[in-house]
Amino acid sequence: MKFIVRGGKKLSGSVPIRGAKNAATKMMIASLLTSDPVTLENFPFIGDTAITRELCETFGSFLESDKAEHRLTLHTPRISNHRALDLSRRNRLPILALGALLAREGRAVVPIVDGDKIGPRPVNLHIKALRALGAEIVEHPDRVEASAPHGLSAAHIQFPFPSVGATENVIMAAVLAKGRSVIENAATEPEIIDLIKMLQKMGAVIGLGANRTIYIDGVDRLGGVTHHMLPDRNEAVSFAVLGVATQGDVTLEGVSQHDLITFLNTLRKIGGGFEVDGNNIRFFAERPFRAVEIETDTHPGFMTDWQQPTVVLLTQAKGPSVIHETIYEDRFGYADDLNKMGATITPLTKCLGELPCRFSNKEFHHSAVIHGPTPLSGTTLRVRDLRSGMAHIIAALVADGESIIEGIEEIDRGYEDLEGRLRALGADIRRVD
Ligand code: EPU
Repeated sequence: MKFIVRGGKKLSGSVPIRGAKNAATKMMIASLLTSDPVTLENFPFIGDTAITRELCETFGSFLESDKAEHRLTLHTPRISNHRALDLSRRNRLPILALGALLAREGRAVVPIVDGDKIGPRPVNLHIKALRALGAEIVEHPDRVEASAPHGLSAAHIQFPFPSVGATENVIMAAVLAKGRSVIENAATEPEIIDLIKMLQKMGAVIGLGANRTIYIDGVDRLGGVTHHMLPDRNEAVSFAVLGVATQGDVTLEGVSQHDLITFLNTLRKIGGGFEVDGNNIRFFAERPFRAVEIETDTHPGFMTDWQQPTVVLLTQAKGPSVIHETIYEDRFGYADDLNKMGATITPLTKCLGELPCRFSNKEFHHSAVIHGPTPLSGTTLRVRDLRSGMAHIIAALVADGESIIEGIEEIDRGYEDLEGRLRALGADIRRVD
């Protein structure tokens, strides 16, 4: 499937922001921890939640959805199957079911998905931490088999760097383990805090300490819950950049300023304007755009998933902008695509920043210099991954002329009814098979 986009229009109007993809999928998996029903509100009906739905159904969950109300109920009275190897579509989520299934059932078999277009994405930290909690794990090239014949027991885990997925996996394993587990150097992304809030309502005892420490006192059982999840800050940034980059005026409905503080500061430096009114934020171009330096980082730093839309905006800013990507080693593949449209982006292997970086002195193109402003013109593009696919769309909407964006299934993984919401803002975009 592809999008045909005709650019050059100012986008304006209001757009509702849906629940966070990267919380929704984990919350679905967390529902496996209880035999009671779990209802998720503000739920996004997107590709990744559809894949996670199939995963949960494989394990024995019954699901009931209300798309109009953005609500999903999952009920897993018992785990009827602990193997998930025959899924029709795969993403990187099944590894996260290891912790929850070990905690509830004492065993699990999940597929391993190879590295993708943003880097190899290993799961060594997940495996090591679950072993520390008492799991016996056998890694095969295509799957991981895990069991905890004597149940899980508390452990003290120290991550070398704050991995989002590994932190979530340990939390979901440790909530039902015997004793107090401690995670040091844990990731504390807003989606993780929201998962903790949901688990706390289910009966879990999870504390947040100083310096990225999380304490988990295992309990005997968890109960059902209704949880209204946080808005998607990646979706919010995508639409905010669209409003600013097209010189338009776009109001995001149902967002959290708290989770966007770092982005808003950066946008203001570039020349974007915003007005916060409760849970709505209006975005517009305030000044001529100026170059900036950005380093991606774990929360509360500038998020890696924000760099792709922001780079499109920086192609329209005066002067050389510098981006140092410290989370993924291979997240500038889309620079070639934007250069085809007229941008001047040079990916480099050097660390162009001050943050400690796992990729220093390695041959990864994880920094980039963007010289702007450069007019963009429409062309044919092929989507590489979710976030760079969104960068393609933003670039196509900023550009003169028509663009064809192929392989949009990747974008559907993370954005619900994207073209409907873009058209409501005045965009000229249509989907064709
Ligand atoms: N890493 C390891 N070993 C591990 C785990 C991670 O080396 O065992 C490395 C990864 O290869 C990567 C870095 O650590 O270089 C960070 O990975 P992390 O575990 O923090 O990320 P994740 O859980 O795989 C989630 C989001 C990503 C988001 C990152 C960072 C989900 C499903 N994915 O990934 O979102 O970029 O956190 O915030 O929650 C997306 O939405 O498209 C997306 C890629």
